[in-house]
Amino acid sequence: MENLVLYRKYRPQLFSEVAGQDHIIQTLSNSIKSGHVSHAYLFSGTRGCGKTTTARIMAKALNCLNRKDGDAEPCGKCSSCLEIAGGNSMDLIEIDAASHRGIDDIRELRDGIKYVPAKSKYKVFIIDECHQLSKDAANALLKTLEEPPSHAIFILATTELHKMLPTIISRCQRFDFRKLRLDELVARLKDLAKRENVKIEKAALELVALNAGGSVRDAESLLGQVISFGSKEREREIKAGDIRDILGIVEIKLVGDLIDLIKDKKTAEAVSFIGRVSDRGYDLQEFAKSTIGYLRQGLIMALSGLNDSESASLLSASGLTPEEFARLKQQTAGLKIDQLKKVIELFLAAQEKIRYSPIPQLPLELAVIESCQNSGQN
Ligand SMILES: Nc1ncnc2c1ncn2[C@@H]1O[C@H](COP(=O)(O)OP(=O)(O)OP(=O)(O)O)[C@@H](O)[C@H]1O
Ligand SMILES: [Mg+2]
Ligand SMILES: [Zn+2]
Repeated sequence: MENLVLYRKYRPQLFSEVAGQDHIIQTLSNSIKSGHVSHAYLFSGTRGCGKTTTARIMAKALNCLNRKDGDAEPCGKCSSCLEIAGGNSMDLIEIDAASHRGIDDIRELRDGIKYVPAKSKYKVFIIDECHQLSKDAANALLKTLEEPPSHAIFILATTELHKMLPTIISRCQRFDFRKLRLDELVARLKDLAKRENVKIEKAALELVALNAGGSVRDAESLLGQVISFGSKEREREIKAGDIRDILGIVEIKLVGDLIDLIKDKKTAEAVSFIGRVSDRGYDLQEFAKSTIGYLRQGLIMALSGLNDSESASLLSASGLTPEEFARLKQQTAGLKIDQLKKVIELFLAAQEKIRYSPIPQLPLELAVIESCQNSGQN
């Protein structure tokens, strides 16, 4: 079934549509309003949080033919805005440094930069994944940033700021894009679902958001999968229960069963349990991830002591059903905070190792053995 590519369809076209990055949007739109623009910007931050999107909106706003002084938003209708939206503007040059990392690519850029914009005020260069430039290329870029022509504006984007040349960083006005919080993701997903005319319960949206790790793109892409799946019965509301299978989310019950074995120090049974999970074809890294997520909820619960209202709000954010939540609460009560911490650390380490292990289930088996030795009332 065709996967609905929501994140392309709904890429924000205005500053006001970018979610969760208020401080950045405010500063950028103020500088556009006042006409005090910098010649080099650096957008850093985790994947799928709006760096490229914001860079394109910047380019649009800078070159919009209808924008009045004192306004920040691009009109979206003039030839410049339309060309940028359609990806065929002569004055917006996007370079993917992941695939164009060499000195020649940057030389070409430097040669082109002298020419005035074809029809706009500025020539805007967006260099994505900028940290991937080779050393020579990065140095050539630095030279360009030292004395850019007045019609040139650079927007560098990176997910790995620490890999950038400090001398490049210091030439740029820097903005750190942050991951979105669960409630922000849910709000965005709710909006898209509405625009797509799809009925989906809040708990389901929360589950999608929980699995997106703070990335809006990942959240939207998961929602696309969920909607394509549910589209057979358009009228029916999509429930959290439907989603687990679609997203390949490991059944929480299974994780809960493993924790029971660990809590009761049933080492041999716990090890063969891992074997069965593996035999059933579960992705072991996903299983480890779910276990970590589950125990983390338990840890938060244990730390907070939990009165009823705290409990209720944790429950709604946990993506667990009330029964699953009650079980976790009871399991958590049987473990000391130090033990919980230790088990989480063991599974974290195991999750890392699975990919490289000659026997994929071995790291989990070892983690389980050690967890059993560490848990329970000694
Ligand atoms: N802050 C945001 N507000 C609204 N939508 C967003 C936001 N961030 C990302 N998106 C959605 O995710 C898609 C991808 O975002 P974008 O390309 O801007 O991410 P990015 O930060 O450049 O990621 P990467 O580091 O992977 O290049 C957008 O088309 C949009 O649908
Ligand atoms: Mg990007
Ligand atoms: Zn315009």
